Amino acid sequence: MSSDSGFAVRGKEEAYFYSSEEFKAQANLTDEGIFERFKYENFPDYYAEFSELLSWYKPYSKIFDGSDAPCWKWYVDGKLNACYNCVDRHLAELKNKTAIHFVPELEEEQTQHITYQELWVRVNELAALLRDTAGLKKGDRVALHMPMCAELPITMLACARLGLIHNVVFGGFSSSACADRIVDSGSRVLITIDAYYRGGRLLPHKKVDDESCELAEKSGQKVDHVLVWQRYPGTISAGATLTEGRDIVINEELKKYYGVRVEPEEMDSNDPLFLMYTSGTTGKPKGAVHGTGGYLSYVTAMTKYILDLHPEDVYWCTADIGWITGHSFTVYGPLALGGSSVIYEGVPTYPDAGRSWRIAQDLDVNIFHTAPTAIRALRKVGPDEPQKYDFHFKHMTTVGEPIEPEVWRWYESVVGRGKAVICDTYWQTETGGFLCSTVPALQPMKPGSAGPGVPGIHPGIFDEEGNMLEPGCGKAGNVCIRNPWPGCMQVVWGNRERFVNDYYGMYSRLDSKDWHDWLYLTGDAGSMSKDGYVRIHGRIDDVINVSGHRLGTKEIESAALTVEGVAEAAVVAVANEIKGKEPEIYVSLKPGFESSEEFVQKIADAITREIGKIAKCRNVWIVPDMPKTRSGKIMRRVLAAISGKSDVGNVMTLANPEIVETIQNIVK
Ligand code: PRX
Repeated sequence: MSSDSGFAVRGKEEAYFYSSEEFKAQANLTDEGIFERFKYENFPDYYAEFSELLSWYKPYSKIFDGSDAPCWKWYVDGKLNACYNCVDRHLAELKNKTAIHFVPELEEEQTQHITYQELWVRVNELAALLRDTAGLKKGDRVALHMPMCAELPITMLACARLGLIHNVVFGGFSSSACADRIVDSGSRVLITIDAYYRGGRLLPHKKVDDESCELAEKSGQKVDHVLVWQRYPGTISAGATLTEGRDIVINEELKKYYGVRVEPEEMDSNDPLFLMYTSGTTGKPKGAVHGTGGYLSYVTAMTKYILDLHPEDVYWCTADIGWITGHSFTVYGPLALGGSSVIYEGVPTYPDAGRSWRIAQDLDVNIFHTAPTAIRALRKVGPDEPQKYDFHFKHMTTVGEPIEPEVWRWYESVVGRGKAVICDTYWQTETGGFLCSTVPALQPMKPGSAGPGVPGIHPGIFDEEGNMLEPGCGKAGNVCIRNPWPGCMQVVWGNRERFVNDYYGMYSRLDSKDWHDWLYLTGDAGSMSKDGYVRIHGRIDDVINVSGHRLGTKEIESAALTVEGVAEAAVVAVANEIKGKEPEIYVSLKPGFESSEEFVQKIADAITREIGKIAKCRNVWIVPDMPKTRSGKIMRRVLAAISGKSDVGNVMTLANPEIVETIQNIVK
C-alpha cells in the first residue's frame, strides 16, 4: 500500500458558504454544545445520546465494551428489533403517513405511496412466509438480489423482524458476483424479482439468478429456495421460468398469509443485522458485518442531525439500496425516524433530463441526496433543466466521491437555488454512517471538502511513520479515525484476521485492549486544513471509485484472466468527466494467441459476466508485454501515465524500458 502522504496539497482553499436563517430556524441540531459533549476525552459516554433515539426492549448495561479489540461491542446487553424501530413504533402516531413513495420508471405508471400501516401489514405477512415456507430462523443469512423496488426494503425489514441477516447484492451485479456472495455468506435462500425497468426496457432479472444458483452450487453452496417477487403482481414478466420444488412466487404464496402477524424477534444489540460486501485490496470482496443496536443508533442519529430529516419532510436518496448508502440512508435511518423515503426504479435522466426534477416537483421532495456522478450527469444533459420545475430543496447531500468545487457550485446555485444547505458526506461501506460532514445549521460549507469529523468522530491524517499531521500543514497523508463508533462494521464475515489487518494493521498496537491504541485506516489519502475540514484525495489501495461505487482492480483483472489465452492483466484508473474515474485494462497474451477485435470483445464480455456492467472498461489494450520492475512486478503507475497521456517519468530502471514506447504507440 502506498499513499501520497507527505505530498503537498494541491488547490486553493475555497471560501465558506453559510446556511440560511430559514434553515437554521427549523433544524434538528442547533445546539453548539454538541461539540463539547462529543469531544475525544468524553468517549464513549457521548454515544448514549444516539441510543436514546431508538426503542429498546431492554436497556443496555454498558455503552461500550473494548475487551475484544478491535471487534467493539456497543450498548452491551441491550435488546431491540430494527424492524420494530422502523415500522411498529410509528403506528401510534404515523400509521396513515407515507413511509415509502415508490416511483416506477415508466411515467405512465402510478407512484405507490405505502403508509406505515401498509408497510407493517406487508412486512408481517412476508416475515411469516419466510419463516414457514423457507424455514428461515434467527441468524440465517439470506441473499437478496434485487433492483430498486418497494419490495426490497419490505424484504429487508421482514428479515430484520425475524433476526435473519440480509445480504443485499446490488441488482446490477452479474450471476457470478451474486454467486460469490451467496457462497461466502452461506445463504441457502435467494430472494429476487422477475424483471425491472431501466432505461425504458423491462430487463429480465430472474434468469440471472438461475445462473447464480448454478454457480453457487458448483462452489459448494446449494440454494434450497428462490423466492421470486413479480414486477407486475399476478403475471410472470420477461419470460422468467420457475424451477419446481425450489422456486416460490412470493406474490402468490402471500395470499396464504393474509392477516398473519409475527412478533419481532428480540435481538441482542450486537447480533448482526446485515452483511454488505465491498471491494478491498485483495481479489475477493469482503462481507462487512453490521450489528443491530450500534448501527441503527448511528444511522438514525446521522439522519436526524446531518440530513436534518423531520417526519413531515419528503426525502429522496437516489443511491441504489444495493449499496450501503441505500441501506443506511434510504431504508434504516429515515424509517427509524418515521420519515417518508422516495425509491425510484430507474435512470435519473430517463426519459429525459427533466425526470429527476419532475419527481422532486410531484412529490414535493425537500431533502435530496445523491452522488457527484449523478450531479455531473444531470448538469451535463440539462444544465438549465432544474429551473423549469417547481421544487424547493432545503437540504442536499453529496456522497461517494470527491466533488469538484465547480460542480458543487452548480448544485448549490441551480439545484438548490442558493437556498439549500449541502452536506458533503464522507464515509464507507465499513463505517455504516458518516465520518466527515458539516453539521448543517452549525458549521459552514466548503466546496470540495467533506468537512470535519461528524460529532463523535475524531479523524486524523497520518504520515507513513504514524505521526499525526498538524491540521493546515499543507501535507496529505492517510485518513484515519482515532476512536471507535457504533456504526462501524463488527468484523469481516468469517475472516477476523482480514478485518484486523486491513483496517488496523498499519498503525495499531494489535496486542492492546485499549481503544486509544487502535487507529482505523480508511484506505483514503486526504488532508486536513486549519479549520479541521477534511479533503479526500482518493484511495491508497487497489480500489477504483467508479460513479461512487467501489471496484477492486484485482476483481476486474481476475475476470480478464478467465479468458483462455490471457497471460497477464493490469487495470488502471482513468479520469472520466461524469463517472469520476473508470477502469482501463491492459492485457498480454500467452504464446500462440493473437490480438484481434474478437479477443478484445471476449475480455470485455468476461468482465461484464464476472462482475457486471459497472466494471466496463473504457478500453481493453492488448500489449506484447507489461512494463515490469526487475523483480517482475507490473508497473501500474507507468500504465496509468500512458492511459492518462501524462509523463511516464524515469523508466530506465524497468526490466524492459523499451516496452513503454511500444505501448504508447498502441494507446495513441
Ligand atoms: O474513497 C472514499 C469514497 O468512497 C469510498 C467508500 O466507498 P463505498 O464503501 O462504496 O461507500 C460509498 C458510500 C459511502 C471512500 O473510501 N468516498 C465516499 N464518500 C466520499 C468519498 N470521497 C470523497 N468525498 C466523499 N464525500
